[in-house]
Amino acid sequence: MKYAFPKEFWWGSASSAPQTEGETLSHGKSATVWDHWYSQQPTRFHNDVGPQDTSTFYKNWREDIALLKQLNHNTFRTSISWARLIPNGRGEVNQEAVTFYNQVIDEMLAQGVQPFINLFHFDMPMAMQEIGGWENREVVQAYAKYADTCFELFGDRVKHWFTFNEPVVPVEGGYLYDFHYPNVVDFKRAATVAYHTMLAHSLAVKAYRARNSGGEIGIILNLTPSYPRSQNPADLKAANIADLMFNRSFLDPALRGEYPQELVELLKKHDQLPACQPGDKELLQQGVVDLLGINYYQPRRIQCRDSMVNPESPFMPEWFFDNYVMPGRKMNPHRGWEIYEQGIYDILTNLRENYGNPRCFISENGMGVEHELRFEKDGRIDDDYRIEFVSGHLKWLHRALQEGSGCLGYHMWTFIDCWSWMNAYKNRYGFIQLDLETQKRTVKKSGEWFAAVSKNNGFD
Ligand code: NOJ
Repeated sequence: MKYAFPKEFWWGSASSAPQTEGETLSHGKSATVWDHWYSQQPTRFHNDVGPQDTSTFYKNWREDIALLKQLNHNTFRTSISWARLIPNGRGEVNQEAVTFYNQVIDEMLAQGVQPFINLFHFDMPMAMQEIGGWENREVVQAYAKYADTCFELFGDRVKHWFTFNEPVVPVEGGYLYDFHYPNVVDFKRAATVAYHTMLAHSLAVKAYRARNSGGEIGIILNLTPSYPRSQNPADLKAANIADLMFNRSFLDPALRGEYPQELVELLKKHDQLPACQPGDKELLQQGVVDLLGINYYQPRRIQCRDSMVNPESPFMPEWFFDNYVMPGRKMNPHRGWEIYEQGIYDILTNLRENYGNPRCFISENGMGVEHELRFEKDGRIDDDYRIEFVSGHLKWLHRALQEGSGCLGYHMWTFIDCWSWMNAYKNRYGFIQLDLETQKRTVKKSGEWFAAVSKNNGFD
């Protein structure tokens, strides 16, 4: 076989509670920021579709786990909903939720699928947002307690835990660019949210280790390689700033237990440093992970802005750079994102050369497609473009492995087409097509292809 993968390589896909469970305000679950925001401004969501319209995993879990097995997944990631397990964010545990997650975990194990469980996927309980969300250190403590409750309840069977998925995204969406609640635009508040998230992460890691349950704990980061548009020094500098702000702001604490000095200096210079407290530094050092999940979709192409610093405007990344689409690049024709397969290799090589080659895996990679039904043939979606996308990335991943990368697996985003925040169902990503009206699931061509790759542990 031309592209053979190491024994016990993790093949699977990823999803999340808020994007699949449905039953958003029933069975004891309270509102998250998404349920709240949608109730206030439904028209900001594509076709006005909100978080209640999903594949209803809360009810269809058994059937969906059978499909995981059918697609030869040996691993699968989803998340626990904080607002379902502990409806007020702190305090009483919802026993119906405990039963639900127990059933899901037990069934996955019975079907030979290792559960990878993430604790927070953009879904802050509204009760916690009302007291300030990540800006409030009380919420950091409440999250740590919630995490420990999960370890206590499910840690005997779940051996791969993640504290956060893409923690930079709620920072960008909620505090810089207005695509997540609470729709604030303020760099300093964004920096505080980012900082407190990593404190919460570290507290959870510490709590997990104290339990000695024999598993591992990590974080899932969307690493977006920042390539300068040209080799001119201004573009090189701007690309480095983008890397510091959007990658290393989480990657360095997660793998080295501290922030890059360059980032600290930059924020200090512009009076944007979040408030630190005694003990924070030591806590961050305890947050170094056992396992890193890497979400990779597309690179950043950075050019320096001429209008560098306008002291009148609020401090924003736009001071320093534009994310620029390079002419002539290969694009996803259905979403306007660049396709750059080599990015996956560059990330893994950077981790090997500069971060001690950590245990890691690709926790998301995927291709969103609009109006995918037009590719239906004889009742099945013929998504050759997705097969090409996945195999293209896997070839570069394979090359990184041959050069000694510590990458342990590959998960696709996503399993069944899911609700995706403000985009709702605009772009479909699944191996399995979902008919929202009838709830019918149909495996796409890529799903069948992936099942064979997983079974053969490689492809030609
Ligand atoms: C990354 C996120 O983790 C997931 O929630 C989202 O739906 C996909 N990217 C696609 O945008």
